[in-house]
Amino acid sequence: MKVAADAEKLRSEGVDVVDFGAGEPDFPTPDNIKQAAIRALDQNFTKYTNAGGTAELKKAICDRHTADFGTSYKPAECIVSVGGKHVIFNLTQALVNPGDEVVIPVPFWVTYKDVVNYAGGKCVFVNTDEENGFAVTAAMIEKVLTPKTRMIMINSPSNPSGAVVDRVEFEKILQLCIKRGIYLLTDECYCHFLYEGSPFSIASVPGAKDTVLVAGTMSKTYAMTGWRIGFALAPPPIIGAMAKLQSHSTSNPTSIAQKAAVEAMQGPQGSVKAMLAEYRKRRDFVVKRLREIPGVRCNEPKGAFYAYPDISTAFGKKGISNTMQFAERLLADAHVAVVPGEAFGTDRHIRLSYATSMQELERGLDRIHKFIA
Ligand SMILES: Cc1ncc(COP(=O)(O)O)c(C=O)c1O
Repeated sequence: MKVAADAEKLRSEGVDVVDFGAGEPDFPTPDNIKQAAIRALDQNFTKYTNAGGTAELKKAICDRHTADFGTSYKPAECIVSVGGKHVIFNLTQALVNPGDEVVIPVPFWVTYKDVVNYAGGKCVFVNTDEENGFAVTAAMIEKVLTPKTRMIMINSPSNPSGAVVDRVEFEKILQLCIKRGIYLLTDECYCHFLYEGSPFSIASVPGAKDTVLVAGTMSKTYAMTGWRIGFALAPPPIIGAMAKLQSHSTSNPTSIAQKAAVEAMQGPQGSVKAMLAEYRKRRDFVVKRLREIPGVRCNEPKGAFYAYPDISTAFGKKGISNTMQFAERLLADAHVAVVPGEAFGTDRHIRLSYATSMQELERGLDRIHKFIA
């Protein structure tokens, strides 16, 4: 968000900025979804709904999850919130007490750390292996578990690294959680943007439902970031606790956005595949161009729409000694916005979002190449 604001400020001063900072699809929301919102307005569906979302949308979410992943959630195990971030916030506040430990693989999406801290919990970071694409394994996690571990947060595919947790490893992590009575929060924000194999939910494994907490969102899958609709699938007592919190803070997510989300869940799914095909082309291009820059190393992301190259080759030049300074100089000198890896817990990387046009990718990568070279 700060990168976006800095880039916007430069732009308002007339500077031609290439923005690789934004973590959101550049595609418009599919038309069938927009039409559903327009219909909702025409029908005056503009009043309060149930604080945890309409029965219609909860059912549509459960049905979609069943169709996509073979799970068997019922509306009583579902809550609709104001985006996936709100879901993760409420889940964490409902479950994490002061002193509880929450295991978070590195690199991590920035919000995890802050929501755990806000609940008074302690983040326990698990380093992953860059050589293995930053994918976390059960053995890495097992080493840091203690009697105080309350929850493990997994985001696969990952923002920022694009890492995908191997299915067998994911199941081993689940078994660790079941054995020790630890919750497994699976953030499925990018689950449909997977470049190899088919999308998978750990919630579909038999016996997972008491342990797994699904955090989902319409934001990326349906290019609906501004609509603010996310959902949790979890055991009813946890949904109940989240509903209490939500009922006294935000109340229901926007009524017309909920109607649009019903259409996203029930309507044609072709736009998701079309976006994935486009992201794949862009990923291949971005990785190739980054690897052509002398000294830059970049894993091939297995999912999501971010590249996470190691740019430490630039340290010691132009007064740059960390990723924050790199990002600041890149924006000031080359007018390209990226997010410094420090935000995600690593000290040699930057995150580039390739959810932008090929033309912008070409322009921005030319500039980054020149800047580093
Ligand atoms: C890993 C991850 N989880 C959850 C979210 C939440 O998105 P939203 O609040 O827009 O649903 C994001 C957004 O960037 C994300 O990157």
